[in-house]
Amino acid sequence: MTSRDRFFSAINCAPLDRPPLWVMRQAGRYLPEYRALKAKSSFLEMVRTPALAAEVTLQPLQRFPGIDAAILFSDILVIPEALGQGYKFRDEGGIAMEFRLETRAQIEKLSAPSAVPDRLSYVADTLALLKKELAGQKMLLGFGGSPWTLATYMVEGGSSEEFERIKQLFYTHRATFDALLEKVTAALIAYFEMQIRAGADAIQIFDSWGGIIAGPDYEAASLKWIRAIIAALPKDFPIILYAKGTAPHLADQAFSGARAISVDWTNDLAIVRRTLPANVAVQGNLDPVLLNTTPEIVRRETSRLLGSMRGTTGHIFNLGHGIMPHAKIECMQALVDTVTHWK
Ligand code: CP3
Repeated sequence: MTSRDRFFSAINCAPLDRPPLWVMRQAGRYLPEYRALKAKSSFLEMVRTPALAAEVTLQPLQRFPGIDAAILFSDILVIPEALGQGYKFRDEGGIAMEFRLETRAQIEKLSAPSAVPDRLSYVADTLALLKKELAGQKMLLGFGGSPWTLATYMVEGGSSEEFERIKQLFYTHRATFDALLEKVTAALIAYFEMQIRAGADAIQIFDSWGGIIAGPDYEAASLKWIRAIIAALPKDFPIILYAKGTAPHLADQAFSGARAISVDWTNDLAIVRRTLPANVAVQGNLDPVLLNTTPEIVRRETSRLLGSMRGTTGHIFNLGHGIMPHAKIECMQALVDTVTHWK
């Protein structure tokens, strides 16, 4: 069975001897071969150059052939950039947008969503290269941020701790908030349609900041925009929804049209599996910090998670969030070995 078949079986909640495995942010700073490439080109140059982006995408699969999926090397922030709001990485860590969105006029001045596929055509070129390279053996994942998560960066002007500006906008100027989210939603629909045409087998939507809004407002701030995206895409095209800190909303997420719900490590995945409808897959959810410990601990905790899911269907093995820069190669190897040899 190819990795791609295994992945589709998991998404379709069919019985499997072991779950497929991939790791969020697998092409990160923890790999020396990634750091070597980055010494020669900046992150953004790598993202914008299809041959380089494809090479970085494939690095983890070359080192760990047991991984079942390749995730496009890019960033969620290419969408604000394509709308006219560029970004860079702060020297001290985190993201800085070129400016922050403060007025309705600035939102109206952003480019039309229809311009996005053209501006991000390098992403389609990267996916086409990968499609060819993977030859139908491995799953090819595209991705993007959720409208809400992208709006937090656009309104805060970068990474944030308190998210005060985006919440102020949501509570005091709802029509302006909605105008921004409508625009970002339309841009994401055009972007995902392009990724699908270019050969993505599934798309993961990252609602990394879904958990920072008050529970009763999660629907209006985030989930309804995600649902609108899924409804606009081809019926049955697999969407994986990752959201962090949104455990109370799992049931609503499961009825969003997403085919898999990816959860953070604070959830007990076996309980999530029992709670969600049997035709919706679950993805996750090892604590990424474990990859900074020791191979013994990784083997123990990975086996524990696999054991808790024994006898269930519809599980895609992953971390509960992105891999950290200090992750150890030998811990990643222990994870891959434990999942791929699972009986
Ligand atoms: O697995 C992959 O490499 C896929 C590509 C990918 C990246 N970012 C590459 C990246 C994906 C899927 C993302 C998503 C992303 N980007 C999210 C959602 C997922 C999540 O982590 O919650 C978010 C919030 C971003 C924005 C972003 N990009 C942040 C907050 C950072 C970290 C900045 C810092 O200083 O720590 C990035 C950088 C980034 N994106 C790296 C990679 C490989 C590290 C860049 C580097 O230092 O070389």
